[in-house]
Amino acid sequence: MAKEFIEKLVKEMTIEEKLAQMTQLSPDFFDTDESVDLTGPAKEMNIDTDCIKNVGSTLNAFGAEKLIKMQEKYLKENPHKIPLIFMADVIHGYKTIFPIPLAMGCSFNPDACKKAAEVAAKESSAAGIHLTFAPMADLVRDPRWGRVMESPGEDPYLNSLMTAAAVKGFQGEDLKENGKIAACVKHFAGYGAPEGGRDYNTVDISTGMLYEFYLPAYKAAVDVGVKMVMTSFNILDRIPSTANKKLVREILREKWGFDGVVISDFNSVGETLIHGVSENGEEAAAKCIEAGVDIEMMSTCYINFAKKLIEEGKLPMELVDEAVTRILELKDELGLFENPYKDANPEKEKELLLCKEHREAARDVAAQSIVLLKNDGVLPLKKGLKVGIAGPFATSRNVLGGWAGKDIENVVSLYEGISSKIPGTMIKTAMTSELGAMQEGIFDVEDRVDEACEQLADCDVIIAAVGESPSDVGEGASKAYLRLSPNQEKMIFELKKLGKPVIVVVFSGRPMEIKPVLGHADALVQAWFLGTESGNAIADVLFGDYNPSGRLSMSFPQTVGQIPVYYNCYGTGRPSDGTLQRYVSRYLDCPNEPLFCFGYGLSYSNFVYSGFKVEKDGEKIIASVSIENNSDIPGKETVQLYIRDVASSVVRPLKELKGFQQIWLEGGESKTVSFEITKDMLKFWNYDLEYVFEPGEFDIMIGRNSEDVMVERIKI
Ligand code: BGC
Ligand code: BGC
Repeated sequence: MAKEFIEKLVKEMTIEEKLAQMTQLSPDFFDTDESVDLTGPAKEMNIDTDCIKNVGSTLNAFGAEKLIKMQEKYLKENPHKIPLIFMADVIHGYKTIFPIPLAMGCSFNPDACKKAAEVAAKESSAAGIHLTFAPMADLVRDPRWGRVMESPGEDPYLNSLMTAAAVKGFQGEDLKENGKIAACVKHFAGYGAPEGGRDYNTVDISTGMLYEFYLPAYKAAVDVGVKMVMTSFNILDRIPSTANKKLVREILREKWGFDGVVISDFNSVGETLIHGVSENGEEAAAKCIEAGVDIEMMSTCYINFAKKLIEEGKLPMELVDEAVTRILELKDELGLFENPYKDANPEKEKELLLCKEHREAARDVAAQSIVLLKNDGVLPLKKGLKVGIAGPFATSRNVLGGWAGKDIENVVSLYEGISSKIPGTMIKTAMTSELGAMQEGIFDVEDRVDEACEQLADCDVIIAAVGESPSDVGEGASKAYLRLSPNQEKMIFELKKLGKPVIVVVFSGRPMEIKPVLGHADALVQAWFLGTESGNAIADVLFGDYNPSGRLSMSFPQTVGQIPVYYNCYGTGRPSDGTLQRYVSRYLDCPNEPLFCFGYGLSYSNFVYSGFKVEKDGEKIIASVSIENNSDIPGKETVQLYIRDVASSVVRPLKELKGFQQIWLEGGESKTVSFEITKDMLKFWNYDLEYVFEPGEFDIMIGRNSEDVMVERIKI
């Protein structure tokens, strides 16, 4: 039941005012700067400028001073004094930038994700933002898709934990509190499965797969009270999500009980015409409102056509009233009716952005997100060595990744991070020119390999800082080739010939095809895009001040031809045992397994697993294992539990992550880790879409990653 004052407000509003609340336009429509030509964008979008005083929300306007002014002006003109809500893409930090979400997934630590969201909420709410279009919960299996960087990864369980943690971090207990903003989980649903990894392309997944893999993380956000859901650009079962009544009204609202606001993605109501399911704007408005989409982002079908539909009796007025009520309720939950500026405050903004505490948190989360993929005993580095750093990411501060703004002057580069780690020690750099961005038609870095080899010949150790341009990750950044650019590969090959240890550090927003350089690397560190504290966090890992603990949240392919390659796949009737047997499911020219599997990551400690057992303790089933740190380096181990349902009414994944525990072990210390196997863990969606437990045999697996596990079969 809506509060009385909201009910009253909705009764007083005209249809036009209601449809304007249901419309989201960019800030240039509201700009307080008199010199901005308001009719420009309004004309392009084909709307009457008079309605702007009633438009309910805007996106991606930033800064307390500006937003306070915008709100002041807006409230003077809005006939009901309904405040504007400021939404924005605050994805992995506002000004203090944290690692890209795929990297944070590798921390296997929901608290790290929550912390990042808390800091982002504090900074952005002081800067006037009320709601963020985050977290992105889209499960991903195809690194060609540029937006894998925004996802926690390929596993529904890990994604659910990370997504829920982010929602809690942004929203806290009470949205009215200072430093809290509303969250919007996106992109509902299945946006992470475009065919061929090409952004915005067709998505066609079976209902079983949708329920089993793709829906859980969005659901996890709903279960912890996320305030908004964004529909996706893609089609699902041949209907664009934004016009998909089954998805939005039936699954999200009726089955899951979501009563918050649903927003379209950017122009995705308008794009139902281009998809070819709406003949015109009128049909688009009818379909999307009927589907349950409350706010139309950046297209204008609702505002232009829904009135006519209502007048002609083609669209029930109640649907519009319900949508407006939800939007006003969200504004009320944020406290905007009492205080339309919420905690926008230019002074506090200055104080908070990039403050020491936030940077320390970013450094800590960044260190946890780094994954050590290879180490032939060269890491950690001893201080006092002569270090050479080569490659486009040696000195670059352009390591924030997508959705992080262009403000790179506060970023710590790798060179700077290493310099402050070993002050006074000589560090040489070579071949440091910026890597070209494919988005700008440049495909490589300048070839200064010969010079680099000369310059670094007398170094004791060489760090090759390579990767992909941050402009080539994120939205609209799909790739068909995932290898490092030719000149970067050549640089690694040639540097290796100097006979010095070569440590390859990869900066990327996706798993790249790193196999060609692996044999030339004595160590390989996957550094993703780590944000503001990038260089410090990498230096912490390289010099052993942080013992690497990251585990891959997404498999690394051997080669692009293997994609999609992910650990939680279904079994086939003809599995391969890795031999040259002919009539089995395998490639002739490549193993089935990825280069590095989900859950993989090394440590400087040596963790030894033993004594794995699965026992009954009364009614309870307990799986346990003992882990010893057989080294003198203290460290964190992520113990992973996987389960396979051996036979059931539908084919089940060969392995599913069902639990993990991070433990800290001092050198020489041992601990026993145990997991209770509950019936809930064994439930799945059957063919009739009932969530059931079917008794039978199960393989219980514990290990250090998704491949290296110990197995015991039990009957339950
Ligand atoms: C993206 C969304 C984003 C929105 C608003 C769209 O292009 O798909 O993820 O939240 O723009 O900026
Ligand atoms: C093939 C069929 C063939 C059958 C009998 C199977 O392995 O898939 O196409 O007809 O053998 O030879």
